[in-house]
Amino acid sequence: MKVGIDKLHFATSHLYVDMAELATARQAAPDKYLIGIGQSKMAVIPPSQDVVTLAANAAAPMLTAEDIAAIDLVVVATESGIDNSKATAIYVARLLGLSKRVRTIEMKEACYAATAGLQLAADHIRVHPTKKALVIGSDIARYGLHTPGEPTQGGGAVAMLVSADPQVLALDDDSVLLSEDIMDFWRPLYHTNALVDGKYSSNIYIDYFQDVFQEYLQQQSMSINDFTALTFHLPYTKMGLKALRSVLPSADSAQQNRLLAHFENNRYFSRQVGNLYTGSLYLGVLSLLLNDANLKANDLIGLFSYGSGAEGEFYTARLQPDYQTGLDLGLPQRLARRQRVDVATYETLFKQQLQLNATDQQIETANDPHRFVLTGQLNEQRQYLDRQQS
Ligand code: CAA
Repeated sequence: MKVGIDKLHFATSHLYVDMAELATARQAAPDKYLIGIGQSKMAVIPPSQDVVTLAANAAAPMLTAEDIAAIDLVVVATESGIDNSKATAIYVARLLGLSKRVRTIEMKEACYAATAGLQLAADHIRVHPTKKALVIGSDIARYGLHTPGEPTQGGGAVAMLVSADPQVLALDDDSVLLSEDIMDFWRPLYHTNALVDGKYSSNIYIDYFQDVFQEYLQQQSMSINDFTALTFHLPYTKMGLKALRSVLPSADSAQQNRLLAHFENNRYFSRQVGNLYTGSLYLGVLSLLLNDANLKANDLIGLFSYGSGAEGEFYTARLQPDYQTGLDLGLPQRLARRQRVDVATYETLFKQQLQLNATDQQIETANDPHRFVLTGQLNEQRQYLDRQQS
């Protein structure tokens, strides 16, 4: 039985900042951000969006009544959680109108956790093939204004419906994993922005990719020439390119060109949004599948998932004949319709997130066009609005 991703959708903010403009404001050469980091635009997440609303906005448009009736597992992977006890997935399940007979959990291991959620969901469907599972990676990447990590911020959520006989990708069950206690990136409970040893984290990422990729090839008696495309967690798009280049010499020259061409489609959307942490690998997959005209049924896609701290996984999936049917076809238009904000507005919005204290707060939502918005906090409880219910 085939099990895997049946539908794949994305949500981010309606606002972005231009990276050349941000570079100029930070006294950096625009090409450092555009080429050296590999980012053209960065999503600016307004205070009216958090990981709950982003997750619900990603999932709601793809779910039919039949899907909703079949879902009995919801996993939200995030490292931008809003509560130390209650799972983001419970809020999301309520906003989406899911059944109460559902298992709702939050998963955490930096940017890796959505892959853990996807694998858990796939195993769940292998045991319960008539059910469906919803896996969402939802995050807001924050390093702070005027930090080296600033041009690698971003945010958004990728929602994946996991089922038997999936429309998009059938997952193979022969992953290779690597996990060790490494301090390359972390966020202690008292910080709202991540702490990171940037250069070290980039080196560990490459080491992890090489380790799990080579081990996978060895275990499966395969070579790099067997893959149609390799996809990567993209904290910034140059990172994926560096990882790809680190293994390209083992491919023949025609395959090198093919992999590089597919990679440009893999990173196309991330270049316009920035880091999504947990959702990043899967936005890259969506980007490849929506933008690459040279894919066909049964193509073998390699996926490298990486989370600082650190955990890596390399696994593979086969493209299904009707894969376009399960994709977020409106995404290119939504990204193109976003509103550009200047650096001063981005900085103001960055500082305007819901304050992490017990006070009642109200958030302006009039300019946020999304269905689900965060309207504030009352009696220490976040208040969410579904505009289709109001
Ligand atoms: N034209 C073209 N390129 C230029 C340039 C110019 N004018 N000026 C500089 N560059 C290039 C540099 O040569 C460099 O390229 P290489 O890496 O290929 O050598 C690139 O631009 C970046 O320059 P710096 O290394 O000087 O940049 P920096 O020190 O300011 O910071 C960073 C870069 C370390 C990635 C920083 O943005 C950061 O800390 N980001 C957050 C951490 C991160 O994303 N780590 C990734 C791995 S961890 C992970 O994957 C999990 C996760 O999601 C966080």
